[in-house]
Amino acid sequence: MSLPHIYSGKVRDVYDAGHGLLLMVASDRISAFDVVFAEPIPDKGRVLTAMTAFWADELADVAPSHLVATDPAQFPDGASEIPGVAGRGMLVRKAEMLPLECIVRGYLSGSAWKEYRSTGTMHGTPLPSGLRESERLPEPVFTPSTKATVGHDENIGFDDAVKLVGAEKADRAREICLAAYARGAARALERGIVIADTKFELGEIDGELAICDEVMTPDSSRFWPAEAWEPGSVPPSFDKQPVRDWAESTGWDKASAAPPLPSEVISATRGRYVAAYERVTSRSFGDWWGAGS
Ligand SMILES: Nc1ncnc2c1ncn2[C@@H]1O[C@H](COP(=O)(O)OP(=O)(O)OP(=O)(O)O)[C@@H](O)[C@H]1O
Ligand SMILES: [Mg+2]
Repeated sequence: MSLPHIYSGKVRDVYDAGHGLLLMVASDRISAFDVVFAEPIPDKGRVLTAMTAFWADELADVAPSHLVATDPAQFPDGASEIPGVAGRGMLVRKAEMLPLECIVRGYLSGSAWKEYRSTGTMHGTPLPSGLRESERLPEPVFTPSTKATVGHDENIGFDDAVKLVGAEKADRAREICLAAYARGAARALERGIVIADTKFELGEIDGELAICDEVMTPDSSRFWPAEAWEPGSVPPSFDKQPVRDWAESTGWDKASAAPPLPSEVISATRGRYVAAYERVTSRSFGDWWGAGS
């Protein structure tokens, strides 16, 4: 019998694995400009899962992780009926999720840059004047947002996070996320990738805050090629740039249905995801579960 399906987000499908466990399966769906494209990027789900598993190991001394297993042999009966589960599936402990997107920003970009440009603040807190777009911040900052069920997440200040989850959990979340980002960003930079910002999702397991969801993947973070980073400009996205460049070249208005991705854009994008994994982890993607399946 197949596992009960609980939820599907834009990218992941979640199943109940019993015994307080969930099976989270990352699909190959890709979004850019807030639109999910019809064509999958082969192996993208495996890259996201492999990278999350890598960070769970690397960060074991920073905080507990929800991850239990990525080896398909350890998945419960019924999991094998889910297409592509090998390499894409993660058996995790079910957590009481914090109602926060735990963002850490090391560089000034995206919605934080927009806010800074208009008010000189980031999530309500003043920053030094004269910073340029994409500039490295004096130090990484924990900048949470709400987790909107409909519409866009809202950037909030640390005080607002305290109101949502209490001082103790907000403090611990900040401590975990800053330590995890510092470790990850340093590792990635050694390998030529800037992690400009990233979003963690934390949850409580057995009374302790654990790092859940996906961890420092290209989907939950801004990955930039280090050699292309220059303050005052917007660096190319390490992973999605082929899709973005192609979409710009078609004159598509980004509001109507997305035009079909050409096969060369699909294969270039797949290559970027795999390269991001192999560079950051120094592991060979061919060794990950589900190769060739
Ligand atoms: N250990 C866990 N226990 C319970 N829920 C979890 C755990 N880890 C992650 N989640 C939740 O599972 C869901 C994963 O689904 P997914 O990432 O596809 O969708 P989403 O985050 O709702 O939407 P999207 O990422 O597309 O914006 C998220 O809601 C996430 O908060
Ligand atoms: Mg998500």
